[in-house]
Amino acid sequence: MAMPNKRPIRELIACQKPGWSLEQRFYTDPEIYQLELDQIIMRNWIFAAHASELANPGDFKVVNVENESAIIVHGQDGLIRAFANVCRHRGSLVCLEETGNTRKFTCPYHGWVYNSEGELVGMRDMPDEFHREDYGLNTVSIARVHGLIFICFCDDPPTLESACRDLEVPMTMFGFPNLKVAATKTYPIAANWKLAVENYQECYHCASAHVDYAKMHTLMLDDKKYERVQSNMRDRMSACGITDMEIDRNEFLAPEGEQGYSYSRSALFEDYKTGSKDGEPIAPLLGELTDYDGGASDIAFGPVNFFLAYSDHVVGYVFTPVDLENCECKVFWFVRGDAEEGKDYNVADLMWLWDLTTYADEKIIVDNWKGVRSRYYQPGLLSGMERSEQRWLAWVLHELRRAPHLQ
Ligand code: FES
Ligand SMILES: [Fe+2]
Repeated sequence: MAMPNKRPIRELIACQKPGWSLEQRFYTDPEIYQLELDQIIMRNWIFAAHASELANPGDFKVVNVENESAIIVHGQDGLIRAFANVCRHRGSLVCLEETGNTRKFTCPYHGWVYNSEGELVGMRDMPDEFHREDYGLNTVSIARVHGLIFICFCDDPPTLESACRDLEVPMTMFGFPNLKVAATKTYPIAANWKLAVENYQECYHCASAHVDYAKMHTLMLDDKKYERVQSNMRDRMSACGITDMEIDRNEFLAPEGEQGYSYSRSALFEDYKTGSKDGEPIAPLLGELTDYDGGASDIAFGPVNFFLAYSDHVVGYVFTPVDLENCECKVFWFVRGDAEEGKDYNVADLMWLWDLTTYADEKIIVDNWKGVRSRYYQPGLLSGMERSEQRWLAWVLHELRRAPHLQ
C-alpha cells in the first residue's frame, strides 16, 4: 500500500503553534531526529565532568553521547583535553574503561598506542610512507566554566564567554570551582529525549508527581503565595553571603553564536534549609556562604544541562538522546571539595530527594511517550506553568529551521 506523502519538514516546523506541544512527528520521525542531532545535540555544549574528577595528570573519563564517545584526559603537560574515542587505524573505540589514570591508551583491536596528549606513539608494521604524527586522535571541543567541564562534538561551538563572565558571581558564591562529585547515577529513559527535557523544565506536574519535592520547593505555588515565600528568602539572602540576582540569557535571548544560560534563586518552604528529608543540612555550607537562606538556585547552560544549587550541595542534570526512542539522564551530586564522606555527609541522604524524583519523572516521561505515539495524540495547549518548556520548544524549532537544507 502506498504511504501518504509526508509533509516537508520545513512546512511542518512552520505550522507549529506557539504555546502548544509539538506534533507527533517531532517525536517519532527518524529524519527529524537526525536533524536534531546535527543542529542541536552535536552543536551545543554538554556537561561532561567536574575538574576535580580529572585533578591529576593521566586522569581520564569517557563520555558517551548517542553514537559519539569522547575521552577527556588530563595530559602529562597539565592541560585537560578531549578526544574522539575512535582509533585512527580502523575506527575501533580506543578506551573501553569509564574512568581511570593512565599514561597511554592502547587500542584493543590492533594495539595502536596513544599518549595522554592524544598523539600516536606506538604501532607495528606500517608502510614506510606512514607518518605517525598525522594519526593523532581527533580533538573534541572542550571548555571549562568555573570548574565545570563541557564538551561539544563540533569544531565551531557556541561561545561560553558571556556565560563565564555573567555567572562568575553566583558560581563563586556557591564555590563551583571547588566542588567535588559525591555521587553520580545514570537513569535510562525509554522515551524521545525532548520529552525528558520538556519535563525537567516545567513544574506543572510537580504537585501531583513529586510529593516529597512539593513539600519543600515552592515553584508550584500561585504567584501571590510564591512572592511571599520568595521575599522572606530574599530578606535572609545577603546575611548568608548570597547576592540577589537573576540572569536570563536563555537560548532565545542569547545572540547568535553564543550559548544561552540563566540563573535564578527560589525559596524553599520555611522549614527547609536544603533539599533533604527533614529540611536540615546534609553537607557543609558551600563556597563563601555563612548560613542557610532557605533557597535553591537554578542554573541552565544551553539546552541540556541544568544545575540546582542548594546552600550545601548542588545537583547537576544532563539529558542526552541514545536513539530516537531512548534517552538518558545523568545526575551528579556535588558537595564541597573538602567534605568527607561519612563525617560531613552521607551519600544516601544526599541522593534521596533527586533519586526519588528522577525515578518518578522517568515514569511520567515514559507514560507521556506511550501516549504521544498513539494515533489519538494531538498537540495540547500548554499552561502558564509550562512557560520555560514553551520557550525551549520555540528555540528547538528555531534551531531546526536553521539547517542549511531547510533554508
Ligand atoms: S582499529 Fe585501532 S589499532 Fe586497529
Ligand atoms: Fe519532575
